[in-house]
Amino acid sequence: MAFTIAIDGPAAAGKGTIGRALAAHFGFAHLDTGLLYRATGRRMLAGADPVAAALSLGVEDLEADDLRTSEVGQAASRVAAIPEVRQALLDFQRAFARRVGGAVLDGRDIGTVICPEAEVKIYVTASDAERARRRHRELTGKGQDVTLAEVAEDLRQRDARDSARAAAPLKPAKDALMLDTSTMSIEEAVAQAIAIVAAAK
Ligand code: C5P
Repeated sequence: MAFTIAIDGPAAAGKGTIGRALAAHFGFAHLDTGLLYRATGRRMLAGADPVAAALSLGVEDLEADDLRTSEVGQAASRVAAIPEVRQALLDFQRAFARRVGGAVLDGRDIGTVICPEAEVKIYVTASDAERARRRHRELTGKGQDVTLAEVAEDLRQRDARDSARAAAPLKPAKDALMLDTSTMSIEEAVAQAIAIVAAAK
């Protein structure tokens, strides 16, 4: 049976961590949809037409080493504003969402556009300062040389662009449950998300 969990929210709110943990807990498949836009943005930076890139993404694009840099994140957010790019990535995401055995998708428009019929919708947020701190810790932990102020500015620009665009802007679905993780540990946030899903099953 198909069962879809849609997780949306701004950058670095903990969507990926929560999505992975939910998938592991319930035995569902997990798709980080931001990777599709990052892979498309990365190809654009290398000179490709973004729509052609989105239509021809392959495994090698999704497994590239530099998808998590802020340069690629900014490029992702620019290509994500192009309706034809979003359209090119739609069928793959919808098919993934309805796969037998359950699926967790995280992104910006999963509950609003990709899976409006999702059985569970969670909108994950955290304060700007907390999100910047978490992403800074993650990037410096991977050896990237960035300051907290640079990370904060990067998130601010992407969230502003993602919220203001006409095509599938970042916003909570009307029936999404809000999960503010500002003062929660990872374990607390995951436990709350598991409780939300368990209540809906
Ligand atoms: O989730 P992540 O930060 O990796 O996503 C990178 C960018 O991809 C976002 O800033 C956003 O512009 C875009 N995105 C989107 N819709 C999604 C997932 C990501 O527009 N479902």
